Amino acid sequence: MTWAVVPAAGSGSRFGGDMPKQYLTVAGRTLLAHTLQALLAHPNVEGAVVVLADGDLHWSGWSSFEGKPLLTCIGGQARADSVLAGLAALPDSVRMDDFVLVHDAARPNLQLADLDQLLERGRNDPVGAILASPVRDTLKRAGDDGGIDRTEPRERLWRALTPQLFRRLQLTRALEGARDAGVNVTDESMAMERQGLRPLLVEGAEDNFKITTPADLARFEFILSQRS
Ligand code: C5P
Repeated sequence: MTWAVVPAAGSGSRFGGDMPKQYLTVAGRTLLAHTLQALLAHPNVEGAVVVLADGDLHWSGWSSFEGKPLLTCIGGQARADSVLAGLAALPDSVRMDDFVLVHDAARPNLQLADLDQLLERGRNDPVGAILASPVRDTLKRAGDDGGIDRTEPRERLWRALTPQLFRRLQLTRALEGARDAGVNVTDESMAMERQGLRPLLVEGAEDNFKITTPADLARFEFILSQRS
């Protein structure tokens, strides 16, 4: 059985508006509730730690979801600080060499089959694994003036998604190492890579997207309406 850490302590400033994006409602549920549902629906996911912003007024106060335990803790300035807080708040039953999932609160469209693949293949990798999707567009490197300097080859380039699956202690050490070196890691894998480790890429659905703009929210609404 595997626990999950769900960082939900971001302000969502790129989204605009007063409400942190994880609390926007779609089809009668907050994005955070959709995300927790997607994660905890998997029979091998045992429970989750939700990392909240200090002074969060919107948290529902749940202590369980789908009949599984939910714990909370307070996050930090950067996403990596919030994940570190979540790792520390895991129950003692999660051993230091156990695998732990980390999944963005704002990524509600996770498919059960993708989570299943990640757990299955990641647990059999010495380091762990992440869900990812191959880059399909042609990539341009911009110059300072907004003109194109060059085209970057897209072969072997992937977009890193979540969940990401790593061992509790190894991920903690990697995130602490990045923090102490002043490196802003934007996902867990980047912290592991800094340690010379090579996590496995597990291809997942492209529409496991992070809600960043109002257009993403409309897209998720549309996906849900098609499903029902
Ligand atoms: O800001 P971004 O969209 O990259 O955030 C990804 C996830 O990390 C979101 O679920 C957000 O709530 C969370 N986060 C956090 N603590 C921060 C910044 C972001 O838990 N300081």
